[in-house]
This record gives sequence, C-alpha cells and structure tokens, in this order.
Amino acid sequence: MKLSFDQDIKPLFRPFDIESMTPFGFDLSVYADVKAHAQSIYDRLADGSMPCDDPWSPDQVEKFKRWMDEGMEP
Ligand code: HEM
Repeated sequence: MKLSFDQDIKPLFRPFDIESMTPFGFDLSVYADVKAHAQSIYDRLADGSMPCDDPWSPDQVEKFKRWMDEGMEP
C-alpha cells in the first residue's frame, strides 16, 4: 500500500514546524504546498538543517522520500 500525505506524512510535522514555515510561503499541513515544495523540503530534511531545532531520524526522512517516489498520494 502506498504512503499517503494525510495518514503518513502530515502527522510528522509538529504545529511548531507548520507555524515556523508559513512565513516562508508554504504550509506544511497543506497537501498542495508540501507537494509543490517536496524536493526542497526533502533536501533540508536529508541534510539535517530542518527542522532547525530537532532533525528527523533516518527512518522519518526515508518515509518522506518513499512518499515522493510513490507519486505523492494525498
Ligand atoms: C519538518 C519541519 C520543517 C521543514 C520541512 C522545513 C523546511 C524548510 C525549507 C524547505 C526551507 C527553505 C525555504 C526556501 O528556501 O524558500 C526552510 C527555511 C527555513 N526554515 Fe524551515 N522547515 C521546518 C521547520 C522549521 C522550524 C521548526 C524552524 C524554526 C525554528 C524553521 C525555520 C526556518 C528558517 C529560519 C528558514 C530560512 C533560513 C534557512 O534557509 O535556513 N524551519 N525550511
């Protein structure tokens, strides 16, 4: 079964992440925004520079990548 944004990806973002990033032009709780910025989001997750206070585990980063590779299901 493919990963989906609503069930698998959205819950990975904390309210603090969403609040911190909306001023930069994307809302991490909104499917269309995460899809549109997926590559730059992935790059920051993978290099550990985002979230700025607490980088994701390799498992979480891999999950985001798998969601991208599977076609970014809503
Ligand atoms: C999973 C959570 C997060 C993701 C995926 C994320 C993603 C990103 C991305 C893709 C950029 C580049 C934006 C651009 O170039 O237009 C960025 C920039 C930035 N983010 Fe986040 N962010 C997250 C959480 C946070 C948090 C928690 C903070 C604050 C503590 C934060 C503060 C910033 C700041 C200050 C920048 C601009 C400076 C820079 O490029 O480093 N972000 N973030």
